[in-house]
Amino acid sequence: MKLKSVFFSLVALMYATMVYAQEPAEIKLVSPDKTRGTAVMKALSDRHSERAFEDKKLSDQDLSDLLWAANGINRPDGKRTAPSASNKQEIDLYVILAEGAYLYNAKTHSLQGIAQGDLRPLVAGGQAFVKSASVCIVLVADYTRSGGTSAGNKQTAAVDAGLICQNINIFCAATGLATVPRSSMQKAELSKALKLKDTQEAIINNPVGYPKK
Ligand SMILES: Cc1cc2nc3c(=O)[nH]c(=O)nc-3n(C[C@H](O)[C@H](O)[C@H](O)COP(=O)(O)O)c2cc1C
Repeated sequence: MKLKSVFFSLVALMYATMVYAQEPAEIKLVSPDKTRGTAVMKALSDRHSERAFEDKKLSDQDLSDLLWAANGINRPDGKRTAPSASNKQEIDLYVILAEGAYLYNAKTHSLQGIAQGDLRPLVAGGQAFVKSASVCIVLVADYTRSGGTSAGNKQTAAVDAGLICQNINIFCAATGLATVPRSSMQKAELSKALKLKDTQEAIINNPVGYPKK
């Protein structure tokens, strides 16, 4: 009897390890709607940081449009909605959903699975409201694409991340979504959970959701 229960515990442990080690399946995003949103002056007038979200998942269309607006491809040569210094495009968007973490692939406009489970608490750090955001977008610099980790390259990456972050802020203002740019996060734990290399660094994040009524 004892041996039997040890056996079943071992099987359960192996199963749990296999499930959690698996990467979530790729998510194909719907086509972005490039016609929506208010005029730019209205969006600038409405932009503000918001730190309270409805407990509601973003619609497929909102998630697709948000990511395309943030740093999607907007020209046939592969350039993006956000400029980047020397077009190095060293910033990646990690998309943290309740069910798992994904990497935004702008070429295929899809989400590549990175890790199972809810990593929003690691993005939240000490700010509990982040855990109720439908999605957190974490902007991660990959210094192998921008010539290394010199102070100059780090500064440029921070500016490039800031430009993507502002695309998110303005998109949210133009479409009635809530967001706040945040440099707080549990960087070391989050980097590990996102399987980042030593040459990658999480710079800033935007929790996004529907504003709390
Ligand atoms: C680089 C940067 C880092 C920020 N980090 C945080 C943060 O960790 N947590 C937070 O609640 N707000 C953060 N903010 C939001 C600012 O507090 C906010 O923009 C500021 O209070 C002005 O308010 P507004 O965005 O509504 O104009 C950050 C803003 C910037 C630009």
